[in-house]
Amino acid sequence: MIKQKKIIFVGGGNMAKAIIYGLINNGYTQSNLFVIDPSADQLNTISSDYSVNVSTSMCQLNGGEIIILATKPHHIKSICESIKDNLNQQLIISIAAGISIKNISKWLGNYKHIVRTMPNLVAQIQRSMTALCGAEELSQDHKNDAQSIFNTIGKILWLNDEFKIDAVTSISGSGPAYVFYFLDSLIEAGEKVGLSRDEAEYLAHETLIGSAIMSESYLNDLGTLINNVSSKGGTTEQAISVLKNKDLKEIIGLAVASAFKRAIEIGSK
Ligand SMILES: NC(=O)c1ccc[n+]([C@@H]2O[C@H](COP(=O)([O-])OP(=O)(O)OC[C@H]3O[C@@H](n4cnc5c(N)ncnc54)[C@H](OP(=O)(O)O)[C@@H]3O)[C@@H](O)[C@H]2O)c1
Repeated sequence: MIKQKKIIFVGGGNMAKAIIYGLINNGYTQSNLFVIDPSADQLNTISSDYSVNVSTSMCQLNGGEIIILATKPHHIKSICESIKDNLNQQLIISIAAGISIKNISKWLGNYKHIVRTMPNLVAQIQRSMTALCGAEELSQDHKNDAQSIFNTIGKILWLNDEFKIDAVTSISGSGPAYVFYFLDSLIEAGEKVGLSRDEAEYLAHETLIGSAIMSESYLNDLGTLINNVSSKGGTTEQAISVLKNKDLKEIIGLAVASAFKRAIEIGSK
């Protein structure tokens, strides 16, 4: 039963805290959650906020069934090398951007029980879109454990090919920033046409949320939704024709392609 398993977070930063919050909210036993981090201040905060076990020492890894690597990517190699001799079939989950399963396996001494994930910032409100991919030999039990954990912070998508994780990074990993940028632009535009900042924020934000929810049933046919707002000769038709003339689709395509290229570069270092 996953909720009774000992889960150890190596790294107690923002993402670890988001996952811990999700786990506790979904009935995971706090006494089975452990966080290892070099910062005593960080650990004190985690301990008082979440009532989980904390330590600055890697000795806590003993007896753990699931280890989540939640540090910045450049720490992963040394952490793997320091824990590899103490592993005994535990599931290793990495949330580090750009670090391949092949490298983690190599640094752990040709270890097989590995899942690589790419959550996103909105994990902090349990609305993450998390992509997961597993080492070839991953057992169904380990697969189930990984998806149970990430289901507590939002939705999940298993990838059949790790190569796709760079595309995931460019869409859902970086995606929240694109949406925040669009929202910011809409708010500023609202002010330019005479709204107060508060009015523009409220209108733009609620419009974004309502439209996002409504679009869920029309993902194959968003043109219909656009047409439903755009009456002939009306205001929306004018605005959409500006977006088309400036080729917003092309701009978004370029932005995603550059994020994708950068994800590949980071991963190949
Ligand atoms: N933030 C996002 O939106 C997002 C999305 C997807 C994936 N990720 C990935 O998630 C990972 C964590 O990101 P984050 O934003 O949570 O980072 P973070 O807030 O910087 O947290 C990382 C924590 O790990 C600690 N740490 C450093 N070396 C360690 C070691 N040897 N052993 C144990 N703990 C150690 C750090 O301590 P110090 O601060 O003292 O170094 C820090 O408290 C990254 O690899 C990132 O690529 C993040």
